[in-house]
Amino acid sequence: MELTKRPRRLRMNQTLRSMVRETRISADALVYPMFVEEGSGKKEPIEAMPGQYRYSIDTFLEALQEVEDAGVRSILLFGIPDTKDACGSSAYDPNGIVQRALRAAKEAHPNLYYITDVCLCEYTSHGHCGILHGQQVDNDETLEVLAKTALSHVEAGADMVAPSDMMDGRVAAIRKMLDDHGHQDVPIMSYAVKYSSAFYGPFREAAGSAPSFGDRKSYQMDFHNRREALREAALDVEEGADIIMVKPGLPYLDILREVTDAVDVPTATYCVSGEYAMIKAAAAAGYVDEAAIVCESAVALFRAGASILITYFAKELAGYLAEGRIG
Ligand code: PBG
Repeated sequence: MELTKRPRRLRMNQTLRSMVRETRISADALVYPMFVEEGSGKKEPIEAMPGQYRYSIDTFLEALQEVEDAGVRSILLFGIPDTKDACGSSAYDPNGIVQRALRAAKEAHPNLYYITDVCLCEYTSHGHCGILHGQQVDNDETLEVLAKTALSHVEAGADMVAPSDMMDGRVAAIRKMLDDHGHQDVPIMSYAVKYSSAFYGPFREAAGSAPSFGDRKSYQMDFHNRREALREAALDVEEGADIIMVKPGLPYLDILREVTDAVDVPTATYCVSGEYAMIKAAAAAGYVDEAAIVCESAVALFRAGASILITYFAKELAGYLAEGRIG
């Protein structure tokens, strides 16, 4: 047959396929989310997320060794405090759970890179991401508390802060607070494009942060929208965000691609708790090959434009990369 253009020619063996690969990924781009709580000797399994735990500070330090040994270089830290109040004041307590965990971790594992999630929902008695006025989250009043929280994380050793609350203007407020205190060089990774999503369900169980009434739809984005994602991303870049995150990951590949094309800063994506839970459940039932699904999903997220992938599979992925399953 006279067929001069044959795409299959470049697929004939693994060496060639690797040569012409369009997406290359590295463990340097992986971030592993971790949960730390009060107490000692604790390593509490998170039911809907097999293999993920809530650690007390002592066991957290041991777990960080596993992270380092796996070849992952960065973590995203979440705190689960013992005390909550209406305005989330334990979020910016210099002796709060995240602040103490950070100080201990920086000392025990100085080579890891520490990003902290900045939000109030784990710290408020009502579980919303900001300060309430009646049933509504008050945007402007929340900014001050978020900025104070970010500063306290940085003072405790955070290398980067990642606000996830979705208040308007919080990147500018945090940037100003950090700059006013001499932390011009600490980057902000903004959860700029964060949809109101059922995929966060297992996380809320893990962090005890489900809202006690209502939902997060007045601040997180409506998943019917894409142009709004571009607006959110542009606003946060203007306010000084160094990295823009799109979240969740896999169901939002279209948004990730569009946002990556629209902004001139790196983009990150967060393959969230519900995505992890679904893969784990299907694999445990024997319906899918976990390693293959995890590899393919990770490559899809990088192919859609992400420079950084935040995932509960970070350690496994680093292993698959080292084995050459993906690259
Ligand atoms: C805090 C926060 C959430 C997640 C990251 N930061 C929960 C939420 O917004 O309800 C979700 C992460 C995950 O599901 O893995 N606001």
